[in-house]
Amino acid sequence: MAKTKKAFVCQSCGTSYPQWAGQCRSCSAWNTLVEEVIERAPVDQAWVAPGQSRVLTLDQVDRSAERRVPTGDLELDRVLGGGWVPGSLSLLGGEPGIGKSTLMLQVALHAGAKALYASGEESAEQIRMRAERIGFNGPGCHVLAEVSTSKILQAAEQLKPDLLVVDSIQTAYNPQLDSAAGSVGQIRESAAEFLRYAKARHVPVALIGHITKEGTLAGPKVLEHMVDVVLQFEGDKHHLVRTLRALKNRFGSTQELGLYEMAERGLQPVANPSAWLLGQRGEGLSGSAIGITAEGLRPLLVEVQALVSTAVYGTPQRSCTGFDTRRLNMLLAVLEKRCGFHLASKDVFLNVTGGLRVDDPALDLAVCAAILSSQEDRPIPPGVAFAGEVGLGGELRPIARMDARVLEAGQLGFDYVWGAKTPGMPKRPHGVHFVALDRISQVVDNLF
Ligand code: TYD
Ligand code: MG
Repeated sequence: MAKTKKAFVCQSCGTSYPQWAGQCRSCSAWNTLVEEVIERAPVDQAWVAPGQSRVLTLDQVDRSAERRVPTGDLELDRVLGGGWVPGSLSLLGGEPGIGKSTLMLQVALHAGAKALYASGEESAEQIRMRAERIGFNGPGCHVLAEVSTSKILQAAEQLKPDLLVVDSIQTAYNPQLDSAAGSVGQIRESAAEFLRYAKARHVPVALIGHITKEGTLAGPKVLEHMVDVVLQFEGDKHHLVRTLRALKNRFGSTQELGLYEMAERGLQPVANPSAWLLGQRGEGLSGSAIGITAEGLRPLLVEVQALVSTAVYGTPQRSCTGFDTRRLNMLLAVLEKRCGFHLASKDVFLNVTGGLRVDDPALDLAVCAAILSSQEDRPIPPGVAFAGEVGLGGELRPIARMDARVLEAGQLGFDYVWGAKTPGMPKRPHGVHFVALDRISQVVDNLF
């Protein structure tokens, strides 16, 4: 039997070496050599389904792969775009303790599907304890405590599950490579094997991956290129809310947001997120404004809190939670230049409450309103929500899905939406007063 051939390949120039070295002799780059399989033993060919490499016209291609398998979890379905695509490889990333294993175990326990949950992180007993805590009974869920990629795949070949979960890709180990589990070569090789399995057997495979301190998925970027879907599970340790987003999705949008709450008995989807996020709002306080963001198809109301105070040190501090600090600096510059507010010598702290992180530019207007309210120490009248992007000239720009945002605000009992002038928007959409604005300075004039 032919043996598997391995080599250390420079990731920068592609030169291969029989042994590891700190520096590539060809391109002089440091630490770029990674162990790779060059020639596979023929046994691996078994993963390639017969007839796969035929040339076909597009209408000859089987459409059954388009079918989606609902995961049994509505939030996950939303983020995936309707469920698992058979034969797809997904990667779920997140910081330790955020709830990746819990989420995937819940999905594996989902009754009606035969699932294999392979864990290299926990023993079968620990997985059982977690399952009991979640309180699901999943007769179709099979567990395997194993790190060896080939053993996991052998078990999957026997069991023929409808879903394979691997927790985590960093513990998956291919004994053919000498490098340690979690190294770039091991991660890539294991992921490639799971990919071959997924494609050959038309089974969705979900890999769990850890995130490094820098916030990127541990292991190589190349993993993100290999998989079809990259999901990111995020949240603040001190808040219960967890957000699930797709960073990459070959079969759907990357705009959708899934919201969960970590409860005593597993992760619960948040049914009415806006009401939940606004639950503890401090009405009548200065520096608080409600913004309407839209994550994917779903509008969400969030509270933005700002605190503007005189800087104690020479250089004023600007600090954000849940919002981009550079964007805050830009908005402060606009308020200074276009509205005449002197904020250059002020400390500004900004917080999107509930532990959510928002990138939607439509939150700009609420951020500006919160800052102005704190600066003037005057609360924003109750029942007002904001939605609009602020440009460098102090102009307000129309944003996408304004109608849906206004509707959401109306449903939550808001009487006024202050927004960027939107073509075609009636004066009282959905029973809400829509205050159309052109410039940020109008907010200043009208608010106080
Ligand atoms: P876990 O899924 O182990 O995180 P990860 O796999 O991302 O490292 O989540 C662990 C945390 O979740 C832990 O701090 C305990 C908490 N938890 C609950 O609050 N409720 C539950 O029902 C479960 C299973 C976990
Ligand atoms: Mg885990």
